[in-house]
Amino acid sequence: MDESQQLPQHIAVIMDGNGRWAKKRFLPRFAGHRAGVEAVRRTVTACAEKGIQALTLFAFGNDNLQRPREEVGYLVELLFTSMQREVAKLHDNNIRMRFIGNYAYFGDKLTQKIHEAEAMTANNTGMTLVIAVNYSGRWDITQATQKIAQQVADGHLQAAAIDEQSISTHLSCADLPDPDLFIRTSGELRISNFLLWQLSYTELFFADVYWPDFGVDELEQALTSFQSRQRRFGRTGEQVRVRQSQRQSEQNEIA
Ligand code: IPE
Ligand code: IPE
Ligand code: MG
Repeated sequence: MDESQQLPQHIAVIMDGNGRWAKKRFLPRFAGHRAGVEAVRRTVTACAEKGIQALTLFAFGNDNLQRPREEVGYLVELLFTSMQREVAKLHDNNIRMRFIGNYAYFGDKLTQKIHEAEAMTANNTGMTLVIAVNYSGRWDITQATQKIAQQVADGHLQAAAIDEQSISTHLSCADLPDPDLFIRTSGELRISNFLLWQLSYTELFFADVYWPDFGVDELEQALTSFQSRQRRFGRTGEQVRVRQSQRQSEQNEIA
């Protein structure tokens, strides 16, 4: 990673491979999930230290409800106990916590814990840590559509006035920039119903380690790869280069 080059403002991560990590060690799947919490701790610390503004972690997908009941129960309990242990420390480190997804499905106890963590850390000015719980990209777009449809039904919005901005503002994380960098561990090359709308122009990075083995080295690799990409957003490479050098000379003038 090049310290002088631009870092992603927002990183989104699919933390995948806990089960296979455990299987490789002849351990039950839950041991992999437990080991995954350590990788979360390492990643949050490293990203905050580097000055990343937002980190979104996919902790539980809406589609994961299809797993065996015991595994779903274990994951919800693990989230609850990890929060009990970690939220105060995150708060001390000036981290702002946010939760996205239909977490209310998991009941009042977890929901209350989530709201407490959000309220406690709401005024922090460091990194925003977003945890996606019972989240899916299609769920997000669906709930945004329901809110917009209600505005139309109430006569506050014309159907023809609905644009990309109206959809974006009703999605989860509307106040955060779209992720610049997406990381998925475990070698799987798919999005698995994560942030579908928000990942439109995100740079994708796939790490060949299971999530419990993800550490600072792998994060560095992802950042180095990110810094080697040219983000064009539909423009030509030449246009991007010209804009960059214009911006550079404007900055030099200010300095
Ligand atoms: C990611 O690891 C954790 C969750 C989905 C909650 P997995 O549990 O998907 O692990 P693998 O993919 O089966 O190895
Ligand atoms: C995606 O992982 C969801 C999370 C990591 C929370 P999965 O392991 O459930 O995804 P698929 O089923 O392999 O696509
Ligand atoms: Mg998996």
